Amino acid sequence: MMSAAHDNHDSVMLDPRQDKLGGRLKVTNFSFKYNKESKPILQDLTFTLHPGEISLLAGPSGCGKTTLAYCISGLVPRAFKGYWKGSILYEDGEQVVDPFSARVSDFSTITSFVSQNPDDILVSLDVRAELAFGLENLGMPVPEIKEKIDQAVTRLGISHLLDKEVHQLSTGQKQLVGIASYVLMDCPFIILDEPTAYLDPMHLQDLLAFLERIKSSRAHSIVILDHDVDSLYPVIDRFMHMSREGTIDYRWERGTSTKRIRMDDIKATFTRSASEISWLFSLTGFLENLDRETYCTDELLAKMREIQATTAGKLPSLQFARNERDILEKSPSVREWYGSAIDPNRGGKTVHEADSPLLRLENVSYSYPGSPSEVLSDASISIREGESVGIMGMNGAGKSTLLKLVAGMIQPTKGQIFYKDTPIGTIRRKKYYRDLGFTFQNPEMQLFNRTVKRELLYSIQNYKVEIPMEETMQEMVGMIGIEHQDLDTNPFLLSWGQKRRLSILSSIIHQPPLLILDEPFLGHDAATSRSVMELLCQLHDDGKTILMASHDVNMLAKSCTRMVYLNDGSFTDITPDTGLPEGFNTHQTHVMSAFFKKGGSITCG
Ligand SMILES: Nc1ncnc2c1ncn2[C@@H]1O[C@H](COP(=O)(O)OP(=O)(O)OP(=O)(O)O)[C@@H](O)[C@H]1O
Ligand SMILES: [Mg+2]
Repeated sequence: MMSAAHDNHDSVMLDPRQDKLGGRLKVTNFSFKYNKESKPILQDLTFTLHPGEISLLAGPSGCGKTTLAYCISGLVPRAFKGYWKGSILYEDGEQVVDPFSARVSDFSTITSFVSQNPDDILVSLDVRAELAFGLENLGMPVPEIKEKIDQAVTRLGISHLLDKEVHQLSTGQKQLVGIASYVLMDCPFIILDEPTAYLDPMHLQDLLAFLERIKSSRAHSIVILDHDVDSLYPVIDRFMHMSREGTIDYRWERGTSTKRIRMDDIKATFTRSASEISWLFSLTGFLENLDRETYCTDELLAKMREIQATTAGKLPSLQFARNERDILEKSPSVREWYGSAIDPNRGGKTVHEADSPLLRLENVSYSYPGSPSEVLSDASISIREGESVGIMGMNGAGKSTLLKLVAGMIQPTKGQIFYKDTPIGTIRRKKYYRDLGFTFQNPEMQLFNRTVKRELLYSIQNYKVEIPMEETMQEMVGMIGIEHQDLDTNPFLLSWGQKRRLSILSSIIHQPPLLILDEPFLGHDAATSRSVMELLCQLHDDGKTILMASHDVNMLAKSCTRMVYLNDGSFTDITPDTGLPEGFNTHQTHVMSAFFKKGGSITCG
């Protein structure tokens, strides 16, 4: 039985003005249960985090990662009530701080917690004020604040945002500004919840370099809660995987792996990628521990190492795929596994260049009111019925703006957008929206009903669509990843990934022929991300036309028939001839080569 009382420990209150801790965070047999829940969400966790380390905590959506972050950062028990046992302690020599009993002012200089919702982390009106906010509160002299801010924005590639207002930022830009503003506080423990989620490949690399730099000072311990193991692997020192039961069921430390990793473990945890094999290439640490007899021949391992050695540190060419083909020929188990990645035979309705477009942007320009620069400039693109088009582009390139224009939420400053050859401005709203399923980048933007069930039923009732109610609800419960009784829950009480899935499902449940999705793959674990991808493939196979913006090259390659890059206000189809946009890592490059092989993009004007 757990009780609200917890183990007593001698805790020394820290003077916030004195030097900050560079000590350890020790979690011992820690369990936690929310007040209203019947079972604990975290169970018997024991681990220690050291300064100079980056630790990654991954696990299924809703398993309790964010709850653990709330406990470490002191939000439990202040903002979230519950019962706990065991202990969490910051230790630095003689000093010990217990976040559960310490005064807020005492531990607020120890942890920075950056929430996964970029709209939650920004408190100021403009970017400069946002970045200075924490440092001003610490009483830092102005010249020092300026210097620190300049360094951080340069390293994160966001100097151009300094003079913007916060509401003018794209979601990825908000995420970067939020991370910078918390990291600047210089707390010894920095907890980042899904920091990579909204970032384009270039800014992701900037962030990783930034985190490595912080780590190298050896004064900070960085804890990342994220699903993107692929991208983060190169910078992490410690990896912990949480089970659905809230226990740690797998752990790994760089250089000192204690357990032989099985292919099944990797599949369960890391199958987010389209080309899991190429991901394996980069994992020397894990490769050492692969169960050779069962799954990999020595020959295969040798080949992997050889490829890894020749590609280390540089972007491989698309020829990389040839080496992979050798491997696939030699290993049936790997071939079977890889076979589930990109299916060359899927692709929905056959699309011909001569088909008339379902959606057409004709010389569209757009600038936000009061902004001197254009987000779209004289941009044209045609999307034919049955296409599944993935839009990529840097943070702030204008992907969300494009989707809002197509949905008629904002109007072009120049040019026109046509749906079935009719300007969308002349189509009756309700008629257009009956045909359109729109998913916002931030799921909270579109949750407005009091229960999950009402959220799902909204468009069905609005458009008077007949569905087999019981079966559909059963299916939805499974897809969102909730219990049946949670249909009566407030949508805002769901985990981020569950909100994301609810927002997608509620926008497509009335079976619109055109689906517009802004970052549908965000916030899920490997398995659920894949099920969202499979759902989109299924809808596409059923003849829906899909336009989606995403930074997830892997998922786009699996689910799209065409990829388009938005840059400098206009569109370019990504084809073997155009090559890849800047900043793609080895893995993404490899995924794209597989995409091209399956027939990839068709070019449309
Ligand atoms: N309300 C606004 N007022 C002024 N400028 C804005 C506004 N919203 C967005 N912008 C600017 O428009 C540009 C495009 O933003 P948008 O949100 O479309 O980018 P995005 O490609 O979706 O980025 P991300 O990958 O970060 O989601 C950015 O430079 C952004 O700063
Ligand atoms: Mg966006």
